[in-house]
Amino acid sequence: MTTDYNTKYGNDLCLTDRHTQEFGYDNSQRVVAVANQKGGVGKTTTAINLATALTAVGRRVLIVDADAQGNASTGLGIAPSDRRQTTYDLLSGVDAIPMATAIPGLEIIPATVDLSGAEIELIDAEHRERRLKSALDRIATGYDLILIDCPPALGLVTLNALVAADEVLVPLQCEFFALEGLSLLLNTVERVRDTYNSELKVSGIVLTMFDKRNRLSREVVADVRDVMGDTVYDTVIPRNVRVSEAPSYGKPVMLHAFQSSGAQAYAHLAGEMLRRERDERPATETMKGAA
Ligand SMILES: Nc1ncnc2c1ncn2[C@@H]1O[C@H](COP(=O)(O)OP(=O)(O)OP(=O)(O)O)[C@@H](O)[C@H]1O
Ligand SMILES: [Mg+2]
Repeated sequence: MTTDYNTKYGNDLCLTDRHTQEFGYDNSQRVVAVANQKGGVGKTTTAINLATALTAVGRRVLIVDADAQGNASTGLGIAPSDRRQTTYDLLSGVDAIPMATAIPGLEIIPATVDLSGAEIELIDAEHRERRLKSALDRIATGYDLILIDCPPALGLVTLNALVAADEVLVPLQCEFFALEGLSLLLNTVERVRDTYNSELKVSGIVLTMFDKRNRLSREVVADVRDVMGDTVYDTVIPRNVRVSEAPSYGKPVMLHAFQSSGAQAYAHLAGEMLRRERDERPATETMKGAA
């Protein structure tokens, strides 16, 4: 069964040479919080599909489901009854062993509704904002990338994600209020940088659910690029029904319908992310990588 799945996975995700060249390679571990306090903007979809695209080029990826809704866990086919060691444990100071998913190279620390209690339970806890970072430092070794799927709030769980992260990736939905609330998120990132995590940066903004037939969608893309400049990824994720139906199959759209416009866009986004990584690397490291 696993073999069949893997073979199918291999066939489905057999990226073109062009994709593979785009992906390049680097061996430092990045911790990326996928965050936006607005609900339903594509955080979870972006986390699980980027993760899947990157495993297809040999990256070892861990997803930390930091949302009590558990959508990343469901979207990767982890049934609630199988979620025994969770992100709640990590925040409570108990280690959790990452679980394998059906996707080779992709592991997850899942979430259950228990996580909704963490915000209140941690209020008086010592080092309450560093719980996730300390836990990941202990248990999450050997990954190339750790993606933290944040909840739609700027509470203590998101704060823990921002303290644990090197970078923030912000999905923005192509809708009228896209930029509303972004300054609050950017201010929060700045405060976390000043207080707890001097290295934290917003590494990218990704525009999601773009509808090319809709003038408003096109205007939003232009506005966001105007205001946020190069931080915005060139790749725009289209609204695509395959993307929205994939979670009900417990699969990322990268596996559910690789040829769909949504999956192809996520493959491009992964390529762009790695190209940016390569371009930002000091020249000596690039030369080492090429040797
Ligand atoms: N490109 C897309 N095309 C169509 N539907 C999409 C697309 N991206 C996401 N969706 C759907 O929109 C809904 C919200 O997406 P998602 O769960 O990724 O957002 P989120 O920001 O994680 O939400 P929350 O804030 O509740 O955690 C989901 O039903 C998802 O399947
Ligand atoms: Mg989500």
